[in-house]
Amino acid sequence: MSINIKQIGLSDVQILLNVSRDMFFTAFAHLNTPDDMAAYASKSFTIETLSEELANPDSYFYFAYLNDEIAGYLKLNYNKAQTEFQDPEALEIERIYVDSRFQNQQIGKQLVQFAIDKAATENLTYIWLGVWDANDKAIRFYERHGFEIFGSHDFMLGSDKQTDLLMKKPLLASLKGRDSIRLSV
Ligand SMILES: CC(C)(COP(=O)(O)OP(=O)(O)OC[C@H]1O[C@@H](n2cnc3c(N)ncnc32)[C@H](O)[C@@H]1OP(=O)(O)O)[C@@H](O)C(=O)NCCC(=O)NCCS
Repeated sequence: MSINIKQIGLSDVQILLNVSRDMFFTAFAHLNTPDDMAAYASKSFTIETLSEELANPDSYFYFAYLNDEIAGYLKLNYNKAQTEFQDPEALEIERIYVDSRFQNQQIGKQLVQFAIDKAATENLTYIWLGVWDANDKAIRFYERHGFEIFGSHDFMLGSDKQTDLLMKKPLLASLKGRDSIRLSV
């Protein structure tokens, strides 16, 4: 299924709140306690927090439209907006969600490819993300798209200390390879 990926702005904050909150609960409520879910959501999914994130010039949000329906969303961070490292040579995928009704239809693939293409076009060195170590489906999905585990960090979901695996995909090696071929001709 082919999607349209559109960048969103501050005027979309209410719909972003509804979409991101709903998709977070659908994905993770059955794996966590209601208190931990509510504690995390009460900080992350508010008009105030999301407005700040939307206003950050180094963060970009996108909706994936399937016909006229929002089938998923993506949040990308550059520079200091990255949740770790703040490496200007890197792009972080902070959030990637596909509505459960539309999963396994290559919408996630198109979103991750969009992020990879963007980072490659911008000549960044690598693209990275953190993923809960219990999220087997997402880990497999990222590995399928060339990401490798390179570390881990703690992540607090409410009062629950969880482990996020850090995964990255190098980008510049292929571009450098092409340059050196061009130079040697
Ligand atoms: C992880 C996530 C973004 C993937 O999105 P998706 O749209 O389901 O991804 P895709 O359809 O591109 O691929 C998913 C699987 O479907 C399978 N698939 C895709 N198209 C297929 C087809 N035509 N026939 C059969 N299988 C297919 C793929 O093999 C893929 O399997 P893999 O993950 O083992 O590689 C989505 O599952 C999601 O939103 N999960 C909840 C939130 C979450 O965990 N986000 C990540 C947080 S870090």
